[in-house]
Amino acid sequence: MAIFVNMMLGRHFLKILISYGLWFLLSCSLSSCTETDIACLKNIKASLEDPFSYLKSSWDFNNNTEGYICRFTGVDCWHPDENKVLNLRLSDMGLKGRFPVGIQNCTSITGVDLSSNDLVGPIPDNISAIIPFVTSLDLSSNNFSGGIPKALANCSYLNILKLDHNRLSGQIPPELGLLARIKAFSVANNLLTGPVPSFLNASFSREDYANNPGLCGGVMDACPGSSKSPHTGVIAGAAIGGVTVAALIVGIGMFFYYRKMSKIKKKKDDDPEGNKWAKSLKGIKGIKASYTNPSVFAHFI
Ligand SMILES: *[C@@H]1O[C@H](CO)[C@@H](O)[C@H](O)[C@H]1NC(C)=O
Ligand SMILES: *[C@@H]1O[C@H](CO)[C@@H](O)[C@H](O)[C@H]1NC(C)=O
Ligand SMILES: *[C@@H]1O[C@H](CO)[C@@H](O)[C@H](O)[C@H]1NC(C)=O
Ligand SMILES: *[C@@H]1O[C@H](CO)[C@@H](O)[C@H](O)[C@H]1NC(C)=O
Ligand SMILES: *[C@@H]1O[C@H](CO)[C@@H](O)[C@H](O)[C@H]1NC(C)=O
Ligand SMILES: *[C@@H]1O[C@H](CO)[C@@H](O)[C@H](O)[C@H]1NC(C)=O
Repeated sequence: MAIFVNMMLGRHFLKILISYGLWFLLSCSLSSCTETDIACLKNIKASLEDPFSYLKSSWDFNNNTEGYICRFTGVDCWHPDENKVLNLRLSDMGLKGRFPVGIQNCTSITGVDLSSNDLVGPIPDNISAIIPFVTSLDLSSNNFSGGIPKALANCSYLNILKLDHNRLSGQIPPELGLLARIKAFSVANNLLTGPVPSFLNASFSREDYANNPGLCGGVMDACPGSSKSPHTGVIAGAAIGGVTVAALIVGIGMFFYYRKMSKIKKKKDDDPEGNKWAKSLKGIKGIKASYTNPSVFAHFI
């Protein structure tokens, strides 16, 4: 009897040992990954002004029970007993400061909501290195300025990107069109100009682009001088228009040429216009090829 109980206990102990060993291997060891997530939140707390004490009152780093940061206001963890941040939801807390780059030490974060605060300055150029696995990024209703970084196109897991109600300026990087998983996108109420991106696998409404001084193309009104727009359809249209004009000129030229030839009754086998025609066709093919080359897209996926 005693031996049997002993055996059961031994087995149980072994089971625990194995599962803890696995946990230790699969998740990160206490000193490597969860420590950086704690450093991440410490850094964010230190870098933001918190006039209403949302973080001051909740983010207490002195209580070191396992998974303690998971009970902080606005912090979701992958597992409630593991200090590994999944989402940060810090909306509408009156937070002031710049984009908290310390977030880069929350290495497994997938959701970042900093909307409706008083954040200023640029969205970092290396945003895709800071939050590479982000699926949802909401920076709306702040005071972010400067351009929309091209690097956002490298956050390839993005489903939701909300940048509306800021003071972002310049053009929307056309590379954002390569975001294959994007479902929601808004840049309304900024200071943006130029053509809207054409997305591979989604289209957005005028509302998502509204109240900017100069967004054009796509669902918006056509861009002025739209032959320079990077929209493929527009380029194709312009090319066809150009070819039509060229054909007309060639036709008229040939009409007069042959009339002159038949008048002076002299033959000539060279056809410089025909050569030009072939060259212009080749040029159009070149444009199309560069826009449909799949390696350009594969590079980003
Ligand atoms: C935070 O991240 C930076 C850069 O990735 C790294 O150098 C630093 O060691 C990290 N801090 C901690 C506490 O892990
Ligand atoms: C530490 O956190 C645990 C869990 O939230 C709580 O039960 C405990 O009272 C806290 N201890 C201190 C000293 O704050
Ligand atoms: C991003 O750039 C900032 C400076 O602009 C730098 O402090 C930070 O370490 C960079 N992060 C990464 C992950 O490259
Ligand atoms: C944004 O910043 C400008 C000037 O820096 C300021 O006048 C304005 O009130 C700010 N807007 C918001 C919503 O904080
Ligand atoms: C995006 O990723 C590609 C490939 O990893 C890299 O070459 C490029 O520099 C990145 N772009 C930005 C703006 O980070
Ligand atoms: C476009 O979306 C559909 C359905 O959501 C998906 O099956 C398809 O793979 C996507 N195409 C690309 C190029 O991402």
